Amino acid sequence: MAKIILDNIAHTYEPNESNPIFALKEMSLSWADGGRYALLGPSGCGKTTMLNIMSGLVNPSHGKVFFDEREVTSMITEERNIAQVFQFPVIYGTMTVFENLAFPLKCRQFPEDQIERKVKEVAEILNLQDYLNNRAKGLTADQKQLISLGRGLVREDVAAILMDEPLTVIDPDLKFRLRRKLKEINDKYKTTLIYVTHDQNEAMTFADNIIVMDQGEVVQAGSPKDLFERPQTTFVGYFIGSPAMNLYECSASSKNEISIGANSFKVQTNINNSNSENLKLGIRSEYITVENEHSDNSLEADVIEVEDFGNYKLVTASFDSFKIKAKVKRELDIPSEKVILKLPAEHCCIYEDNKLI
Ligand SMILES: Nc1ncnc2c1ncn2[C@@H]1O[C@H](COP(=O)(O)OP(=O)(O)O)[C@@H](O)[C@H]1O
Ligand SMILES: [Mg+2]
Repeated sequence: MAKIILDNIAHTYEPNESNPIFALKEMSLSWADGGRYALLGPSGCGKTTMLNIMSGLVNPSHGKVFFDEREVTSMITEERNIAQVFQFPVIYGTMTVFENLAFPLKCRQFPEDQIERKVKEVAEILNLQDYLNNRAKGLTADQKQLISLGRGLVREDVAAILMDEPLTVIDPDLKFRLRRKLKEINDKYKTTLIYVTHDQNEAMTFADNIIVMDQGEVVQAGSPKDLFERPQTTFVGYFIGSPAMNLYECSASSKNEISIGANSFKVQTNINNSNSENLKLGIRSEYITVENEHSDNSLEADVIEVEDFGNYKLVTASFDSFKIKAKVKRELDIPSEKVILKLPAEHCCIYEDNKLI
């Protein structure tokens, strides 16, 4: 296993154009040995391109790839010892499940008894033990994907297992169990797992570290907590969390105070040198509280809707021409017309040109 380093990597699929579009803009990034990562971002942001650069399916236009100190940029996939699981399963239909799982080990001439032991172990993890002698082509789509996954897991010598939206074809309940299995495998074998998804819930429940991408750029790398509490850009605030972060254009009225229309709010950010034209306030709906009376950082809003989600209530209200959403305890009684909401200063994030300051 190895630490994977992307050193000043950039990629364009149109190298001969005079003004090519870069699917991946220049970036450097390292993936710790044994880490459990999610690569998260909307469709088309460059996730698969980045994964294919790591596995060797795509040769980057710029930069170098290292596994530990070894440069692998021009090495083909087979030489890199990477297991890759694709969105749609790639299996050998005429082979049995056992033969499919054994294939990567057979190719590397592992001894038969070792192959048998490892295949059985992985089949058990994936609940495929009853199908080992069945031909793969008769299986369901999710069982086929389990085989793809299994072929990545049988090899203990892999530098990393890269999974590109692997659970798309799998039903939600099995998805949940599989994610848990993957976590167990990562704990047990310390295999680096990189899991690509466009689904924030999948990313947040699977990974210790999430790399968020937008339009060919890494916009934030951090723990689920970091992404939730201190989104580094308004995109991350909007993309992560449900509902999305509340975001408002605002202006600085002093170093630690901003105004949104007629309302002023204290913040803990020093807004010293900012060009107040491009300021935004962001606050998670989880941090907004409903109050009985006005105090610092409160505002009066008109209730539009109160939705009861069982474990919480979501209040949608408006002030001036803005909408605001607050997630509150379900026991709380919400007035039907006017509500006083407080935006605690410590949870107010200030963005300049959409970047956290
Ligand atoms: N083989 C290719 N040839 C040309 N353009 C491509 C190719 N693969 C991807 N792209 C383009 O590169 C960008 C990033 O794509 P991709 O890495 O597949 O994103 P994601 O996996 O996040 O959906 C997109 O604009 C996509 O259209
Ligand atoms: Mg993709």
